[in-house]
Amino acid sequence: MRSLHERSRAVVTPALPRWSDTEVVSGRGVYLTLADGRELLDFSAGIATANTGHCHPKVVEAAHRQIDQLIHACIHVSWYPTYVQLAEKLAELVPPLGMAFFGNSGAEAIEAALKLARYSTQRPGIIAFQGAFHGRTLGAASVTAKSALRRRYEPLLPAVYHVPYPWCFRCSYGQRRESCHLECFQALERLLETVVSPDETAAILIEPILGEAGYHVAPDDFLTRLRALCDRYGILLMVDEIQSGMGRTGRMFAWQHVPGFTPDVMTLAKGLASGFPLGAVLARPEVMARWEPGAHGSTFGGNPVSCAAALATLEVLEQEKLVRQAALVGEYLHHELDTLMAEAPIIGDVRGRGLMLAAEFVQPDGRPDPGMLKAVTGRCIDRGLLVIGGGLYANVLRVIPPLIVSMEQARAGMTILSDVVRGLQAEVA
Ligand SMILES: Cc1ncc(COP(=O)(O)O)c(C=O)c1O
Repeated sequence: MRSLHERSRAVVTPALPRWSDTEVVSGRGVYLTLADGRELLDFSAGIATANTGHCHPKVVEAAHRQIDQLIHACIHVSWYPTYVQLAEKLAELVPPLGMAFFGNSGAEAIEAALKLARYSTQRPGIIAFQGAFHGRTLGAASVTAKSALRRRYEPLLPAVYHVPYPWCFRCSYGQRRESCHLECFQALERLLETVVSPDETAAILIEPILGEAGYHVAPDDFLTRLRALCDRYGILLMVDEIQSGMGRTGRMFAWQHVPGFTPDVMTLAKGLASGFPLGAVLARPEVMARWEPGAHGSTFGGNPVSCAAALATLEVLEQEKLVRQAALVGEYLHHELDTLMAEAPIIGDVRGRGLMLAAEFVQPDGRPDPGMLKAVTGRCIDRGLLVIGGGLYANVLRVIPPLIVSMEQARAGMTILSDVVRGLQAEVA
C-alpha cells in the first residue's frame, strides 16, 4: 500500500514544511499510534498545542456535548453561551486584559491584534523583532522576520520595522549577558529616534520567548525596559503568547515570569483549545473599547465547539494543576539537558522555561549544525520518541511534551534522547 506521504505528492501542496513523515492514526495522552502500529512518545504535542495531551477525556466530552447541541451560529447573528463564557473566564484569569476577540488560528489572532493596534491608536507604525514568527497570512508575515518566510511575498505591510531580538546565544552585538548593556534595547531606542517617531508607533509586538527561531528567552530587564518605553510614549505593548501561553512555560503566560510586567494586548492560540482551531486577542478594555462596531469580525471565529473545548482545557489545566506540573517536569528536563550538554559538545546551548525547552546543535567551530539536528530527530523517532526541530538555522531541538507528561514518561523520553545524542557525539569524536 502506498504511504500517505507518497499519495500526498500528487494532491497536496508541496509548500508545507515538514518535520517527519510519520503517519498518525490516533492519540491518547502523551502517546501517538502510527499507521504501522508503532506507538510514539510525543514530545512535540502537535507543535506545543496538545497541552492537555491527546484527546483528553474532558475536552472530548465537552466538544461532543457541544456538537450535539450547536455547531455553528456565527457571533454576528446570535450570541451563544460558550463565546461569552470563554471571554469571562479569560478575563478572570488575566484581569487587566479583560476583553476578548476570537478567531480561528494564531495568524488570525495576530491579524486582529495588528488591526486593533492601528485602529485604536490611529498610528501606523508596528515594531517587531528579528527572528520573530507570528504566522503565515500577509499581515502576520509582515511582522514575521525570517527571510525565507518573506521571500517572494514582498511588498508586505508598510510601516513595519524590525529590531534585533534580545537573544543572548549568538548575540547580535557579540556581547555576553553578564557584561552587556542591552545594546539590543539601545537599537530599539535608536529606531524611534531615527526612523519612526514614537507618536507614529502604534505597537511593539514581542514573543516573550522567541518560538520558531529557537526558544530564546527575552531577559527580564529587557521586557521591563520595553514596558517603561511603551508607557512613556503611549505605544501598545503586545505579547504573542501563541506558543508560550496556556501553562507551557510553568506559568499560565510566559510574561508572568517577569516581575511587575503586564502587556496591553496578548495573542493566544495553539494550546488554548487543546487542538481545536481557536485564536484569541485579549486586550485592556480601554484599548478594545476604541475598536468600533464593524471594524473587525469573523464567521467561524470563536465557534461554539472550539470555545467549549477551550473552557474544558482551562478546567483541566486548573484541576490537574498542569501549570505546576510543567514547571516541575520542565525543571527536571532542563537539568538533564544541561547535563547532556556538559558531556556532548555537539550541543552548544540549552535554554527555555518549563516545558518549552531547546537544545541547539553546533559544529566544532560553533556554527549551526542542522544536519546533526536531523540525525537526532530521525533516530529518536526510530527509537519511539517524536521530537521536532526549529530555530533560525533549523538546528534547534524542541522539547515540548504535553503538560500532562509524568516524571516517568519524561525520564523515558530523556533516556532515548540522551542515548541518541551520546551515540552521535561518539561518531563525530
Ligand atoms: C508565536 C507564534 N505566533 C503565531 C503563530 C501562528 O499560529 P498559526 O499557525 O495558528 O497561524 C505561531 C505558530 O507557530 C507561533 O508560534
